[in-house]
Amino acid sequence: MTSPRVLVTRRLPEGGLDPLINAGFEIVGPRDDDTPYSSEELLGLAESVDAIVCLLTDLIDYEILSVGAAHSLRVIANVAVGYDNIDWRSAHRLGIEVSNTPGVLDETTADAAVLLMLAASRLTFAAESDLRAGDWPGWGITQYLGVDIHGATLGIIGFGRIGRAVARRAQGFGMRVLHHSRRETGEPGYMDDLDELCRVADIISIHTPGGPDTVHLIDGRRLALMKTTAVLVNTARGSVVDEAALAEALHAGSIFAAGLDVFEREPEVHPRLLTAPRTVLLPHIGSASQATRRNMALSATNAVAQYLQGGRPANLIAREPNSD
Ligand code: DGY
Repeated sequence: MTSPRVLVTRRLPEGGLDPLINAGFEIVGPRDDDTPYSSEELLGLAESVDAIVCLLTDLIDYEILSVGAAHSLRVIANVAVGYDNIDWRSAHRLGIEVSNTPGVLDETTADAAVLLMLAASRLTFAAESDLRAGDWPGWGITQYLGVDIHGATLGIIGFGRIGRAVARRAQGFGMRVLHHSRRETGEPGYMDDLDELCRVADIISIHTPGGPDTVHLIDGRRLALMKTTAVLVNTARGSVVDEAALAEALHAGSIFAAGLDVFEREPEVHPRLLTAPRTVLLPHIGSASQATRRNMALSATNAVAQYLQGGRPANLIAREPNSD
């Protein structure tokens, strides 16, 4: 019997392939120079593999899935907790399972959200840029005046694992924590009305999944509801925020600051955001600690190993009713 073939689209952190190697699977890819496969190349590769381990930058669309399903593709493991890069509903209809990496990156991503809250609220980017450029004239009592995060009201949008990890950290800063999510949580601080949360929060941190249901959840109208002292933080998916509207709000000073780790069209960043004042921009590094990225890789490759050996990994994405 031939061993299963697993396409690994990109280089993984050290040790990340171990579950596949230990299972004796044949590993296809990644390329020696770690450049991404094009859609056409993925389409070709999908014909001859049983599983794909991919990153959030690989678009796995219906075409790739249907070619894979017509051959031997059975499972796709996304090395990310978000999976809006995969047409997972079609995958399920075609009999292909999809897994993600829940649980292993919550704390690291929550740390990054707090980092952005602090950096944006305290204007560290502008202050450091001036210092490095030799433009700091020395201490001044009216320089770089930010807003405090201690004692502030934090509005968390999306109250899954990462949102809750942020809430735990916020307690340490003496913040009042409110949250909004699609389903009522029944927990203290729950707000059904997202508009109202936008109105009352001093800091808003986004932790919803990406995908069609949350596109531009924070749009120009909701930005206009926010306080002029509000700080917006996004470590979830760029598509949740209307970037053009946010850039306008920052330029106009209708909100105070923003801290963004994710963008609508990565790696492109809206040009008006690049020049927006009081804005901290990071290149999608929310989960980027050595331990967490390794654990994400292991979560994905363990899922593939388990599934191809007849198991049912806990991190398979749940099917919607009637998806078969
Ligand atoms: C994820 O896992 O979805 C994150 O965006 C990666 O940091």
